[in-house]
Amino acid sequence: MNTRRPMVAGNWKMYGSHAANAALVEGLREGLASLGAATDAVDTLVCPPFVYLAAVAGQLGDSGVAVGAQNLCAETGQGAYTGEIAGQMLREVGCSHVIVGHSERRALYGENDELVARKYAAALATGLTPILCVGETLQERDAGSTSAVVARQVDAVIAHCGVAALGRGLIAYEPVWAIGTGRTATPTQAQEVHAFIRGRIAEHDAIIAGSLRVLYGGSVKAGNARELFAMPDVDGGLVGGASLKAEEFVAIVAAAAV
Ligand code: 13P
Repeated sequence: MNTRRPMVAGNWKMYGSHAANAALVEGLREGLASLGAATDAVDTLVCPPFVYLAAVAGQLGDSGVAVGAQNLCAETGQGAYTGEIAGQMLREVGCSHVIVGHSERRALYGENDELVARKYAAALATGLTPILCVGETLQERDAGSTSAVVARQVDAVIAHCGVAALGRGLIAYEPVWAIGTGRTATPTQAQEVHAFIRGRIAEHDAIIAGSLRVLYGGSVKAGNARELFAMPDVDGGLVGGASLKAEEFVAIVAAAAV
């Protein structure tokens, strides 16, 4: 047991509609309310697509569930950046958090370590709490380079933003081979990498390393959340598919509350 407060975050990815989101939020509100005081011990967050952020924030109201975005522009303020969304804008529509460097953005939209680090800095500069995603592909794991890949991804943010900046965000370890595949990392596999990440940061600052929350992501569901969250360095989850079902998400929150 550690003193870090667990977080369960839902990454809705490119799913949803006004009607589906309203039903999901209603289900979350009811489900979380039925858990009662247990949820006080867990931070909860949902990350809908940009266009639904304001509506979802409004629907969540005083439920205690925070709202985050899935991406932001590396530039802050306003400017001629067609198609981009600045951190200030996300704040204005109710976001407190933002995911940066998700593996889908790295793989499909060409985001490299340097751009991810700039986005991390932009999030902090605009008052958002960044959730930095790191993780290796199956090929990289099979080649024995998991540690090297994760270290490179973490180091890039330390190099650009400084280690203190890491203390102002969260990290999500999401092995690419476990995302959307139904193939979850075993609790031991997750623990190994989470401990490695914490150790890497401890080389710079042991206090930040000890207080930083490291979430696990990759096929987290109600059925496996409890054993994952029981690991000493796993501080909750970043949940994709299962976050689109209110009952599943609520059960995952309950698993983090024990
Ligand atoms: P799944 O939970 O659908 O595997 O997705 C994980 C993820 O990518 C969360 O950011």
